[in-house]
Amino acid sequence: MKVTVIGAAGGIGQALSLLLKNGLPAGSDLALFDLAPVTPGVAVDLSHIPTDVKIQGFSKDDLGKALADADIVMIPAGMPRKPGMDRADLFKANAGIIKGLAEAIVENCPKAMVGVITNPVNTTVPIVAEVFKKAGTYDAKRLFGVTTLDVIRSETFVAQAKGLSATEVMVPVIGGHSGTTILPLLSQVDGVEFTDEEVASLTDRIQNAGTEVVEAKAGGGSATLSMGQAAARFCLSLANAMNGDQAVVEYAYVDGGSEHGEYFAQAMRLGPNGVEELLPIGDLSAYEEKALNDMKDTLTGDVRKGVEFVAG
Ligand code: LMR
Repeated sequence: MKVTVIGAAGGIGQALSLLLKNGLPAGSDLALFDLAPVTPGVAVDLSHIPTDVKIQGFSKDDLGKALADADIVMIPAGMPRKPGMDRADLFKANAGIIKGLAEAIVENCPKAMVGVITNPVNTTVPIVAEVFKKAGTYDAKRLFGVTTLDVIRSETFVAQAKGLSATEVMVPVIGGHSGTTILPLLSQVDGVEFTDEEVASLTDRIQNAGTEVVEAKAGGGSATLSMGQAAARFCLSLANAMNGDQAVVEYAYVDGGSEHGEYFAQAMRLGPNGVEELLPIGDLSAYEEKALNDMKDTLTGDVRKGVEFVAG
């Protein structure tokens, strides 16, 4: 198994690479790429950790070498938000970056599973898909927008609100990865009841949790460590599923032809070929039904923007 992290010298990339060096199965190869010349040094640094994961770092013109024969490519590359911006404001900065990276994947590892972290995820995932479609290499089952951070945040905030252990709480989160398109299904949290006020305030906090970090970092970027943790959880789950574990379920934003949106985040069973099965979103409360309906135009607009960007 070869995993390549693109944007590996940044805040998310370094945290993710550390967790993958420790978590990937023995015998795996981990390749780090970033334009920053420090990247080979980041790999040397991580190589001193005693695990059976081989690590190499590449920078500048060596993207092709980093991607060659990768089985999984995780992409946190790109610009983060500053206070006052929402994720869609990153389109201008990141759309071209993600398009170029998708083209490099087509050339070097067209069969890889691709996990996109670069914002705005609702739009960057369709950009990657359109590049792959143009090249004739698209397989919707192998492309994921990483929304795991919404899930782990929901687990943490619900546990805090209800005095539970965060390790015991599971919260489905569907939709997309920005603002009101992030929809935690609090009505489906096992064994926990919420008042209407709690639902409103927890939903609002989960939807704005990325902004909470952006504001707390006061111009120094957005979530890196929790995003690194979330991306590692997703990547390690995917690696386990590719290695034959048939019981791996994660949430991600995928092109699944869902009745709720062309691209939609929901639970799915993962397997050797990526998405094995999209799992039903289950029964929703009236509040959640309304939120789902209200997000549809935003999601559709976000996807269109990506499709049109690649169409030119
Ligand atoms: C997050 O959810 O923290 C990330 O998408 C980064 C951001 O800009 O909010």
